[in-house]
Amino acid sequence: MNNYRSSEGEGSNVPPELHPLVEAAGRRGTLPEWAACRPERREHSARVAELMAVWSRDIGLPAVDRVRWVAAGHLHDALKDAPVEALRSLAGPDWPDPLLHAPACAARLEMDGVRDEELLLAIAHHSTGHPDLGALGECLYMADFLEPGRGYMTEERAELRGRMPAEHSEVLQAVIRHRMARLIDRGLSLRDESIQFWNRAVGS
Ligand SMILES: [Fe+2]
Ligand SMILES: [Fe+2]
Repeated sequence: MNNYRSSEGEGSNVPPELHPLVEAAGRRGTLPEWAACRPERREHSARVAELMAVWSRDIGLPAVDRVRWVAAGHLHDALKDAPVEALRSLAGPDWPDPLLHAPACAARLEMDGVRDEELLLAIAHHSTGHPDLGALGECLYMADFLEPGRGYMTEERAELRGRMPAEHSEVLQAVIRHRMARLIDRGLSLRDESIQFWNRAVGS
């Protein structure tokens, strides 16, 4: 379950109807009963959701989209602390263990009837990026890295937060660069979709 594509593409003016799970997360911060994440992880997700709320408001999105953006923040790590075997059975063979929770969460939401492809793609690729991400997915990718609770790059990340959402494209490039550099510094490989995400962000 790793082939999420945006069915509507960027610029669509027809937001999908809100699924009850998305509405519960987006309006009340309530996670599905199958969520598996520790309290500190929920606090991280709440900080991501807060950035999504502020950015979606500041760019003037309609109320229904703001609910979707906030829901993405609360939901993105909902399976972060689930057993690897369970995540693997949801996400399929094409993901390394540390990334499984993202496609697994999207797959689990889809099993429950969520059909919001932009939201599912954003959650599935919140760690890796993806060239088909729309504004929601790009902002989730940025918010996940920029939320104020992380204990590293404090000043740089605060400076980047302060430039959002006005300088979306520039901040996105900076965040991709930082996230990729952290992987490269640890000797880890980059996934194809991450490289394509970077290439699209810099316009090549
Ligand atoms: Fe995550
Ligand atoms: Fe996260």
